[in-house]
Amino acid sequence: MQIAIINGPNLNLLGKRETGIYGSESFENYFKQLEAQFPDIQFSYYQNNVEGELVNYLHEVGFSYDGILLNAGAYTHTSVAIRDAIAGIKTPVLEIHISNVYAREEFRHTSLIAPKCVGGIYGLGLKGYHLGVEYFLLNKA
Ligand code: DQA
Repeated sequence: MQIAIINGPNLNLLGKRETGIYGSESFENYFKQLEAQFPDIQFSYYQNNVEGELVNYLHEVGFSYDGILLNAGAYTHTSVAIRDAIAGIKTPVLEIHISNVYAREEFRHTSLIAPKCVGGIYGLGLKGYHLGVEYFLLNKA
């Protein structure tokens, strides 16, 4: 089983960025633990701050992978291009947010990508990625 994890803008700063909201663990460190916990899954991890590069990567993995966990960061709330990319690929995309976006500023309450995703996980910290992997495993069985 192949699962791609895609993180959007500013998520390269996890562990350093607004730690009261996003925690103090880097994604690289968390990702190592995730890989160790699911040794039978082939993961790819991609992070980019540029909208079009996220679109390119969705195209790259979106016709062969079994699942995509996408934290589009702030592009969640603004990007028609990422929404269209999700609509255009075959692989199901699960939306992830580390923070509870609905308990934050109002502009974070709208997700342009949500209607094109199979579902979403928000507010559960980095554990949300783990739970997203579990979803794809359960769905495959
Ligand atoms: C985020 C929530 C977004 O609103 C924000 O712009 C981010 C991170 C999250 O994981 O909680 O960059 O996607």
